[in-house]
Amino acid sequence: MKYAKDFIRSHKKITMVTCYDFTFAKILEESSVDSILVGDSLGMVVYGHDDTLGVDVDTMAKHTAAVRNGARSKFIIADMPFLSARKGMTFAMEAAHKLMSAGASAIKIEGVIGQEEILKALVNAGIPVMGHLGLTPQYYQSLGGFRVQGKQAEVHQEILRQAKILEALGIFSIVLECVPNKLAKEIHQHLEIPIIGIGAGQEVDGQVLVLHDLLGLSGANFKFIKEFSDLKTKTLEGISSYISEVNQELFPSDKESFQ
Ligand code: KIV
Repeated sequence: MKYAKDFIRSHKKITMVTCYDFTFAKILEESSVDSILVGDSLGMVVYGHDDTLGVDVDTMAKHTAAVRNGARSKFIIADMPFLSARKGMTFAMEAAHKLMSAGASAIKIEGVIGQEEILKALVNAGIPVMGHLGLTPQYYQSLGGFRVQGKQAEVHQEILRQAKILEALGIFSIVLECVPNKLAKEIHQHLEIPIIGIGAGQEVDGQVLVLHDLLGLSGANFKFIKEFSDLKTKTLEGISSYISEVNQELFPSDKESFQ
């Protein structure tokens, strides 16, 4: 997948994972994953913050450039960080410009209400924009925490309404986070653009997960996460073997030394 126009509904699910650095990007470049998200979740995963609110545009651009250096051929989506689409048209345009110049193929913006004009202007400027609805982590304070969205009938209808607005604005795809399967299915039925789920069940066009979660590096235990590897254990084993060989004077051996 190279362009936003390749993001289409088909019998094959679209796969997307987060990535924040050059080393993992190089590994992903060798994989068949369809797309990479430089998510503002890097605030939590890389910098150890409690939420994503402290991430700024320059930090996103720096990580986007590192990921692009490692994953030359991949479709890379970069998150517009907290409030960057809320500080007026000029700020939003400049933020999107920085992310696209850093190597992003598209940007992702959480929410819709109040930023319709900016979304439209970005789309008109030739920037592929991905939406993000349901649990939008940049809104967690007003949502009352990181919790499933759309269980109540009114919220269900509101998220569906917002998804339709996004499609009408020309957004090429929507990430739908932590909503009941029924709502995801309904949005999928009402819209034509691909819906990428995270904690949104099966009846969507693709899935996204945080790379550190799926590799078993983060130890996060939200219901929607599945660990497909156990890199934390493997990392600890490697470090402990290194310590033990240094202490036993087995490392460095002649093989790793200059004579
Ligand atoms: O920032 C992020 O990693 C995200 C995904 C969880 C969808 O937005």
